[in-house]
Amino acid sequence: MSQNKIPVGVLAATGAVGQRFIQLLENHPWFDVVAVSGSTRSVGHKYSEVCRWLLPTDIPESVRNLIVQPSTPEAIQTPLVFSALPSSQAETIELLFTKAGAAICTNAGAFRQDPLTPILLPEVNPEHTALIAAQRTQRGSDGFIVTNPNCTSTGMTIALKALQNAFGVKRVFATSMQAISGAGYPGVPSLDILGNIVPYISGEEEKVAWEPRKMLGKVNAGKLDLAEIGFSIHANRVPVIDGHTVVLTIELTDPPAGIELARRALAEYQAPEISRQLPSTPKPVIRVRNEPNRPQPRLDITDGMTTVVGRVRPDDLFDLRMVVVSHNTIRGAAGGSIYNAELLLEQGFVQR
Ligand SMILES: NC(=O)c1ccc[n+]([C@@H]2O[C@H](COP(=O)([O-])OP(=O)(O)OC[C@H]3O[C@@H](n4cnc5c(N)ncnc54)[C@H](OP(=O)(O)O)[C@@H]3O)[C@@H](O)[C@H]2O)c1
Repeated sequence: MSQNKIPVGVLAATGAVGQRFIQLLENHPWFDVVAVSGSTRSVGHKYSEVCRWLLPTDIPESVRNLIVQPSTPEAIQTPLVFSALPSSQAETIELLFTKAGAAICTNAGAFRQDPLTPILLPEVNPEHTALIAAQRTQRGSDGFIVTNPNCTSTGMTIALKALQNAFGVKRVFATSMQAISGAGYPGVPSLDILGNIVPYISGEEEKVAWEPRKMLGKVNAGKLDLAEIGFSIHANRVPVIDGHTVVLTIELTDPPAGIELARRALAEYQAPEISRQLPSTPKPVIRVRNEPNRPQPRLDITDGMTTVVGRVRPDDLFDLRMVVVSHNTIRGAAGGSIYNAELLLEQGFVQR
């Protein structure tokens, strides 16, 4: 392990999100992957033997020969743990790690509804880590969990935050067009999705209608009050490999005098000070495209962490319409968790 880096473990390192963790953590300036876990299928084997690696970069040399461990705090003894566990497994396993004193940055949805667990986007709500103190007290342990939002909630919440700060947001009508990689590997059968659209993703609409309200809400005296914003969501799976697109129609509290002001509020949005200079900070937070046919997932998710917004235009029923594209396995999953961990280190919740 490199000196001064924090040793980290990755739970479910062999899946679609787990692989992104391994890829993004290679040469990370603060974190070093020293342990990986998998299901019983993989435990005891070399990572490179059991991982069906899907990414265009090679498996990092430092991880290739790691022996896949069971997902227990005895086998993965790192102070910081990234989790790409299926939600069905996460609830039990992640709690065991918190009891053992670890900080968990998870992609799983198991704890998103927990009032003491922040759903964190450093460029939106870094102050929500104030909930960690109450979480530690409740669990009687130094360990704690911080979650990412669902990958579809991610980009739209970042864009809505910019509008909320500038004009206030009252109601949102949104339709998602979600990439296949959002369903993991092997995910959606090819015969279901090639040349097709599937207008249903189990549980997705409920998550996407609720999670932004938590992230755009306020923590008062150790308790989180949800933002009073109405959401109507349609979720669809489309034959795109990576990159979730969400089209939104938005009612604002105090609409701008012209649409250019809305474009400017999005393009000039800055993350709160503490989140601006971390290794994974997106630069810019939001890129606004002015071409009439952008953003497109194949062209606009290239840097992974930036949220891309386009087609910002007035709306006759509400106030404005726009399209948001965000990388689901980077900003919406592994990259988001790593950015969260960097924030936790910056705020002193994780020690070097
Ligand atoms: N894909 C996305 O865009 C996305 C975005 C945001 C959040 N998420 C969430 O991230 C999590 C992972 O999703 P995914 O897309 O990576 O799924 P996936 O490709 O289906 O991978 C799931 C992985 O979980 C592993 N696993 C199952 N039980 C395990 C256990 N007890 N211990 C350790 N590993 C175990 C499997 O390991 P083996 O290979 O060893 O069997 C498999 O590699 C889910 O909670 C999902 O909802 C996904």
